[in-house]
Amino acid sequence: MGDWRRSHDCGALTASDVGSEVCLMGWAQFRRDHGGLIFIDLRDRGGLTQVVFCPEASQAELERAHVLRTEYVLAVKGRVRARPEGMANPNMPTGEIEVEVHEFKLLNTAATPPFPIEDRIDASEMLRLKYRYLDLRRPKLAANFILRNKAVQSIRRYLDELGFLEVETPVLTKSTPEGARDFLVPSRVNNGSFYALPQSPQLFKQLLMMAGFDRYYQVVKCFRDEDLRADRQPEFTQVDIEMSFVDEEQVMGMAETMVKTMFREAAGVVLPEVFPRMPFAEAIRDYGLDKPDIRFGLKLVDVTSIVKNSGFQVFAKAELVKGIRVPGGAALSRKEIDDFTEFVKIYGAKGLAWIKIKEDEWQSPFAKFLSDEEKKGLTDAFGLEVGDIVFFQAGASDMVNNALGYLRLQLGERFEMIPEGSFAPVWITDFPLLEYDPEAKRWAARHHPFTSPQPGQLGTLESAPGEALARAYDLVLNGSEIGGGSIRIHDRETQRAMFAVLGIDAQEAEDKFGFLLRALEYGAPPHGGIAFGLDRLIMILAGAKSIRDVIAFPKTQKALCLMTEAPGEVSTNQLRELGIKLRTRDKDKEQS
Ligand code: AMO
Ligand code: AMP
Repeated sequence: MGDWRRSHDCGALTASDVGSEVCLMGWAQFRRDHGGLIFIDLRDRGGLTQVVFCPEASQAELERAHVLRTEYVLAVKGRVRARPEGMANPNMPTGEIEVEVHEFKLLNTAATPPFPIEDRIDASEMLRLKYRYLDLRRPKLAANFILRNKAVQSIRRYLDELGFLEVETPVLTKSTPEGARDFLVPSRVNNGSFYALPQSPQLFKQLLMMAGFDRYYQVVKCFRDEDLRADRQPEFTQVDIEMSFVDEEQVMGMAETMVKTMFREAAGVVLPEVFPRMPFAEAIRDYGLDKPDIRFGLKLVDVTSIVKNSGFQVFAKAELVKGIRVPGGAALSRKEIDDFTEFVKIYGAKGLAWIKIKEDEWQSPFAKFLSDEEKKGLTDAFGLEVGDIVFFQAGASDMVNNALGYLRLQLGERFEMIPEGSFAPVWITDFPLLEYDPEAKRWAARHHPFTSPQPGQLGTLESAPGEALARAYDLVLNGSEIGGGSIRIHDRETQRAMFAVLGIDAQEAEDKFGFLLRALEYGAPPHGGIAFGLDRLIMILAGAKSIRDVIAFPKTQKALCLMTEAPGEVSTNQLRELGIKLRTRDKDKEQS
């Protein structure tokens, strides 16, 4: 642009630049027209600078400036000057200075934006997602991407220094089982056949170990067609890692240092020197979930044996009865208790039993059924004190743990027990290898079917499949699963045995994973790895409430992109080429 060359970004100028001639370019964020004087906050990715159109700098430019509106794009040339006494803005890095404009160029006009580009914003997320490029102009949102970039650079630097190779793996591939549905892509040249988008590069990274690549990583898109939540997207990014000739200590040690280094370099956050570890069984026992938020207490207490002969039938009949004692919780209103009762129903609970410990009595819908012995037992088990409330859940183990596990998180928030700005990582280890899928009535891999059993667990795998332990580990941060991995099976026989337990017969194993089974015959090294959910990591680091705030162009809970309106319909011709015929809507209705 000739001599119109940008000299600084809009966040750079400070008092030490007073007197310099500068050229800034950006968007007019905020405009105050005082007739004889026009102030504009000029914004670019770097920040904001106040520019002033004034007669002493140029009367002609001041007159031209009356046409400027918010989000117009301009270039200004001028001199940096100190703001007058009392006009400095300590809330803004450039708050001590302003630029008096000698000359400006209007680079583009802008229609009135559908919502103001400000950090304090009340426009609906739907509208903001439709105009995502405008929303991304907001410095607060843009900051998440600056942080994300720093984090990724830090991770790449760290892994590169350790000799990891970044290798790209296919996106058009075959199904990789990670427990979600696949996104399928129809093949034009092979009508009737479909590629699957990878749920993770799991098998490819194992094959790279078999290729002798030793240490691999990739910052990679993964695709999972599953129900979306605040921390899940249909396409998301993993930092995917695999190493040869290692055990779990080496993988976890490397990963732990990577996360610590990244938090420090990207955000100056110092994580604990050593991350605590917790076996899966302990996590379920104390927190009900395999991703415990250990920033606060409120541990679950198992009282099954105390109430097993209770006159309260809900308790007496149950497989498991657990409770949570909340100090000071007796102050909860009936309405709040009702809300918590509704909440646990999401997890399959039929109700929520509670006792308020009052000065002179136990207030509770069912206290009358409890014997003195049971009351004594409960008092000791929980360490009950006046002012407490205890919530109970009774029923099947999984439901009880799940319902109370999530209730605990709600209670932690309600009673403000979660320290602001704190980070509590914890490794979860000793996962069961399998979990029972009651719908399919069979055992399924908890992690994925390539995870190695712990030593001596092969026999258990056949005799008591539910009890066999895996060489798997997850990293949990503030109650969110941010990464998971395992040591893999590297011999064909164990892999076959594993498929057999999972009810995958030889033919199916060959069809789906023949290439892996063959590779296992040609000298596969012992290997293992881990994958981090990058979006989740950044979300926690940025203190964002939704994963959408750290993904430039995210999808809604319904998996839609409101900006491009993807997914969209395709022409009949395209379908014909793919050999696809759509069942009409009416037909669908008939059949459902
Ligand atoms: P896993 O399935 O545990 O392991 O995935 C690894 C991490 O990816 C993140 N993640 C997600 N993030 C956003 N949206 C989603 N839908 C989503 N699903 C998963 C989580 C999770 O911890 N191949 C194995 C890893 C291995 O064994 O090395 C795997 O994919 O943070
Ligand atoms: P009911 O016997 O169904 O009237 O329930 C008595 C009390 O126990 C009510 O407060 C219910 O909310 C609660 N409740 C019902 N089912 C359960 C359960 N499975 N676990 C814990 N509390 C329950």
